[in-house]
Amino acid sequence: MMATYINEPSHTFNEYLLIPGYSSCECIPANVSLKTPLVKFKKGEEPAIELAIPMVSAIMQAVSGERLAVELARNGGVSFIYGSQTPEDEAAMVARVKAKKAGFVFSDSNLAPVNTLADILALKAKTGHSTVAITEDGTPNGKLVGIVSSRDYRVSRMDRSEKIADFMTPLEKLVTARFGITLSEANDIIWDNKINSLPVLYEDGRLYGFVFRKDYDSHRENPDEMLDAEKRFVVGAGINSRDYEQRVPLLVNAGADVLCIDSSEGFSEWQKMTIQWIREKYGDSVKVGAGNVVDREGFLFLAEAGADFVKVGIGGGSICITRETKGIGRGQATSLIEVCQARDEYYERTGVYVPVCSDGGIVYDHHITLALAMGADFVMLGRYFARFDESPTQKRTVGGTVVKEYWGEGSNRARNWARYDLGGDKKLQFEEGVDSYVPYAGPLKENVAKTCSKVRATMCNCGALTIAELQKKAKLTLVSATSIVEGGAHDVIRKEKESDNG
Ligand code: IMP
Repeated sequence: MMATYINEPSHTFNEYLLIPGYSSCECIPANVSLKTPLVKFKKGEEPAIELAIPMVSAIMQAVSGERLAVELARNGGVSFIYGSQTPEDEAAMVARVKAKKAGFVFSDSNLAPVNTLADILALKAKTGHSTVAITEDGTPNGKLVGIVSSRDYRVSRMDRSEKIADFMTPLEKLVTARFGITLSEANDIIWDNKINSLPVLYEDGRLYGFVFRKDYDSHRENPDEMLDAEKRFVVGAGINSRDYEQRVPLLVNAGADVLCIDSSEGFSEWQKMTIQWIREKYGDSVKVGAGNVVDREGFLFLAEAGADFVKVGIGGGSICITRETKGIGRGQATSLIEVCQARDEYYERTGVYVPVCSDGGIVYDHHITLALAMGADFVMLGRYFARFDESPTQKRTVGGTVVKEYWGEGSNRARNWARYDLGGDKKLQFEEGVDSYVPYAGPLKENVAKTCSKVRATMCNCGALTIAELQKKAKLTLVSATSIVEGGAHDVIRKEKESDNG
C-alpha cells in the first residue's frame, strides 16, 4: 500500500469565471430569489429553516456577537454565536438575541400599582425602556391594570414617593388587543388610534406582550428578516465535540434555532458522537450542522452521521495558517465542487438533501456567486462581517486607515482550543490563526444589500432566477494565470483606490 496521490492541482475561487448563459426578459434582478435551505430536508418537503439570503456569519469571537446576529437576521441571514466562551455566556448571548423580538415584544419592564415614581425611574435607567406595564402583582404576565410612559409623569413637579396608581394611564383609558391578533391587525389598531404601543391581553386580562409602532416600522423595512414562529430573530450557535452534554441543553433552552459543530477538521468520530448524542436526546428537533470537510468521503461520513448541513473548507480562511502550520487543506473551489457532487449523489440515492456551506476564503462578492454556482447552498463569512459596525470589535485608526480587529479562533487571542483539539491529554501547542486588522466598511445593511445586488445581477447573466437554477445552469471556466491579471483594471493609471470588497 502506498499513499494516494491527486496530481491535479486543487483550485481557488479566483481561478474560475462564470460564462454567461441565455437570459430572457424575465431575468431581471428584481425577480431573483436568494432563498436557500439552511438544514436538510426530504424530497418533496420544505426545509425547516430557509435563509432569505445565502449568507451566515462565522463562529468567531471577532464576528458573531449578539449585535451582528440581530442585524444579520434582520437582513435575511443567520449568525452562529461563537462557542469559544463558557456555555453559560454563550447561552446568555443567544437568549439576548431571542429577546429582541420583531413584532410582539414580551414586557421586561413591569411594576405594581403600589410601586412609586422612584421605582419607575430606577427601572427605566436599568432597561432603557420608557413604557412600563403595570400589572396587579408586578409580574410580566400578571393582570394588566395600566401603563406608565414618559407622558404620564413630570420628574421636576412630582414627588418620587408618589404611587404609580395615582399617575398611570389606567386600563380603561388604554386601547388593547386580544391575544391571537396578527401583527398587521395590531399595526392597523396602532395607526387608527395614533398610539405608540399596543398591549396584547389574554382573555382573562393577563398581559401577553406589546406591539410597538417603531418595531413594526422596522419590520416593514426588512422584508427578508429571519424570524421564528414566535417572530423572534433566528440565531445559530457554535458547539464543540467536547462539552456538548453541558453546552447543547443550555443553548437549546436559550432558544438557539440551529447549532453547528465548530471544528477545523470534521471527518472525525468525535463529530459523529456529538451528532448521535443530540439525536438520542432531542431527535430531529435540534438542528446541527457539522464540518469542516474538503472531500467526498468527509461529506458522506457527516451526512450519514445525521448532520443537518455540512460545512466545507480547510485552510482557506483569511486569518488561517492551518496550511502552513500543519500542511493540510485543499483549494476551496475544488473541495466545494467535489463535495457538492457527493451531496447530489446522496440526494439521488436517499431522497435527503443535505445543504452545503462554503466556509472561508470569500474575498470578493463574486466569490459568493461562484460558490453558489459550484453547488454551495450558502456561504459562511468571517472577514467580510468583521468589517462592519455591528461586529463585536473596536474601530481603530491605524496608519491613517480606519480598521476593525479580526482574529482567528485558532490564534492565541481566541484560545478556542476545542476547535482544534484532537483529543487525548495533550492540548495543542501551536497557533492556527493570526490576529489582524480589516478595513472598516460601515453598516452591515448597506454592504449586504450591495453584495446581494451583485449576486442577483450575475445570476441574471447566467439566466438563473433561483440558486437551485444557478447550480444547474452555471457554466464555469478555469482561467490561466495570465488572464487573472487581465481580470482587474490594467494598463491604466487608476484615479481611486480599489474598494476592499470588489
Ligand atoms: P474568512 O471569511 O476568509 O475570514 O474565513 C472565516 C473562516 O475561517 C471561519 O468560518 C473558520 O472556518 C475559519 N477560521 C476561523 N478562525 C480560524 C483560525 O484561527 N485558523 C484557521 N481558520 C480559522
